[in-house]
Amino acid sequence: MKQLRHLMSPLDFSTEELDKLFTLAEDIEKNPNKYAHACDGKKLATCFYEPSTRTRLSFESAMLNLGGQVIGFSDANSSSAAKGESVSDTIRVISCFADICAMRHPKEGAPMVAASRSSIPVINAGDGGHQHPTQTLTDLLTIRAIKGRLDHFTIGLCGDLKFGRTVHSLINALVRYSDIEFVFISPEELTIPDYIIEMLRDKKILFREVRKLEDVMPTLDILYMTRVQKERFFNEEDYVRLKDYYILDKEKMELAKSDMIVLHPLPRVNEISVEVDDDSRAVYFRQVQYGVYVRMALLLTLLEIDVHEQDRTTCN
Ligand code: CP
Repeated sequence: MKQLRHLMSPLDFSTEELDKLFTLAEDIEKNPNKYAHACDGKKLATCFYEPSTRTRLSFESAMLNLGGQVIGFSDANSSSAAKGESVSDTIRVISCFADICAMRHPKEGAPMVAASRSSIPVINAGDGGHQHPTQTLTDLLTIRAIKGRLDHFTIGLCGDLKFGRTVHSLINALVRYSDIEFVFISPEELTIPDYIIEMLRDKKILFREVRKLEDVMPTLDILYMTRVQKERFFNEEDYVRLKDYYILDKEKMELAKSDMIVLHPLPRVNEISVEVDDDSRAVYFRQVQYGVYVRMALLLTLLEIDVHEQDRTTCN
């Protein structure tokens, strides 16, 4: 029997497979009509046990753009999880309704448990403070499209590096490319987890940990801003004290290189002043659009749909 392919971590794809995925995403951007019926008759289930705007709606938009349909829930309380159903049982049920599932869950590892009991591909759409692989695919495609490469740069990651799952996934993915230097900018309480520091030391990858964003702005090729993750804090007082620790404004942007780019997985709270939005180096809204193309490419890849193959079958 053929092995089902899921996406739990960006490392589930080799760098060669990522290259292929990004090339497909770029072709989708250029030739959307070619893909408009690629998923006719297919259904995506979005099972979101945690709030989301971008990830859920970009998955849904991706499937609709491919001619497929979407079902799902956006709140655990409107699903049978509220009655005590396990993720394992839910995915066995969803497998009867849909061809592929994107799942977000507050518990780390929950999508992995689902994948182990599923008969359809499962995509981790964010699990607790652990991983957010499709955000990483979005980030990598954005960097590749704008910078033209995924190697040889210094990237600053700023904000909540402790709980920010997008940061953890992005570092894991970037260590496979050459000559990447990391600059971690965070308050003392929100530093990058030890297991990531150990992994970087093992791989002999250059990194620095700093507190002040201004000090490192001129050295960065990419600045990845993040919000402080309110939902992962145990008390409100700590969140209030740390939430506005970094605010990227026009003044700080003046310290940056002319071709530096600012990414943010969004949602933004206060960490980027809205005045920065008009700076051509602020690419976080373009990043959202790349998220749809890369999710379209991912759906086609996991469903093993090749539009060129479909065309040949239609012609014969
Ligand atoms: N970037 C991201 O995961 O956004 P949402 O929480 O809105 O999906």
